[in-house]
Amino acid sequence: MAGHTYQAPRGTFDVLPDAARVRRRIEHTAAAIFARAGYEPIATPAFEDTELFERGVGHSTDIVRKEMFTFEDKGGRSLTLRPEGTAAICRAYLEHGMHKLAQPVKLAYLGPFFRHERPQAGRYRQFHQLGAEAIGSDSPLADAELIGMFAELVAELGVPGVELRLGSLGSVETRAAYLDELKAHLRAHEADLAEGVRERIDANPLRAFDSDDEGTRAVMAAAPKLVERLEGEDAEHFAEVRRLLEACGVAYEIDPTLVRGLDYYTRTIFSFVCDRLGAQSEIGGGGRYDGLIEQLGGKPTPAIGWAAGIERIALALDEELPAPGRDVLVAVAGEQGERRSLALVLAGELRKAGLSAEIDLGGRGLKGQLKHADRVGARRVVILEEDGGAQLRDMTSGEQRPVDTGNLIEELTGGEA
Ligand code: HAM
Repeated sequence: MAGHTYQAPRGTFDVLPDAARVRRRIEHTAAAIFARAGYEPIATPAFEDTELFERGVGHSTDIVRKEMFTFEDKGGRSLTLRPEGTAAICRAYLEHGMHKLAQPVKLAYLGPFFRHERPQAGRYRQFHQLGAEAIGSDSPLADAELIGMFAELVAELGVPGVELRLGSLGSVETRAAYLDELKAHLRAHEADLAEGVRERIDANPLRAFDSDDEGTRAVMAAAPKLVERLEGEDAEHFAEVRRLLEACGVAYEIDPTLVRGLDYYTRTIFSFVCDRLGAQSEIGGGGRYDGLIEQLGGKPTPAIGWAAGIERIALALDEELPAPGRDVLVAVAGEQGERRSLALVLAGELRKAGLSAEIDLGGRGLKGQLKHADRVGARRVVILEEDGGAQLRDMTSGEQRPVDTGNLIEELTGGEA
């Protein structure tokens, strides 16, 4: 064989059937949780105007500065493959006048997202998120409901070793006052900071809490913490979120250094981490973004949501789901001829009746078809015989007896074969 062989692009991957079944389980479990709590499905395009993410996610974030797949279309417009879902959903909320609906508008989504990051285990350039947003409520009940839904997802899937970290950024004003205080602290210890942190004292001082550098970590251990600076309504809001989580039996740990990589957050932020994962240990997270809708041109509208990484949940679950087997395989004995179409019609009827039914598509003889039935895990085989009769074979016991094809559905769904 000559020529070139192709591979999936760097940072992307194929999902083969054994892994796809696990992902389906994750997706179905989440969809059921969203539906039971009244979060309606929504889907937005895979790309948006670049400016939406620049404004929404924030110019100073790593996502906007370094990680966006941005391109120009043939009309000269700058478009970007979506790096996250929240800004796009807020755009849809505004575009479709959803402020006229009963508030909050509760939405759930699932799909591919794109970030040009350095690939490693749990970090890809195309990955998949499932998430939920409640737009139009500032009630701590919304915070607790959404966080509780994430906890439920983790519990129902059986993801091991998961911990919930909780923090609060306060309002824009509290945060601004705190950031001044933090910048002053960083400047006072500038000599001990890593270069990258020093360069971004003004642009993004909170990211200093994320640094792996030893000197920086020592400076940050002594830095003022935002959760300790919360006042008035911010402090009350956070206290109520905590009380509600406790009332629902959702365990959490306050993390005063918790920061998230998007600029739109206000008040509650949270992160679910899993100790079975390496460096990329966050399976999902989110928080309030009370200023985002206004930032995108709407009226002030408080909102909160989260997103989880499907690949990270799958990694944490570390399971494989084998193919589920088949109820029946319809085989043809002897010269196939006309009876191939009969097999196809019969399999169609069985499928309509809710059974999983296969036929041989590989032109095998009867022996080969029975082997194939074994391979696909068929529990029974209907053999259409040359004289117009049929046999029903139980693949577990090997027993075989004549059967009336007109009566097959009852035979297969009713008593034992
Ligand atoms: P995020 O923390 O940037 O938040 O992403 C959410 C989750 O997506 C992460 O916790 C992680 O599991 C997964 N994820 C992110 N980047 C990658 C990657 N390169 N490879 C694999 N998985 C990844 C958001 O995107 C916000 N929109 C969440 C939100 C919704 N906040 C409010 N509402």
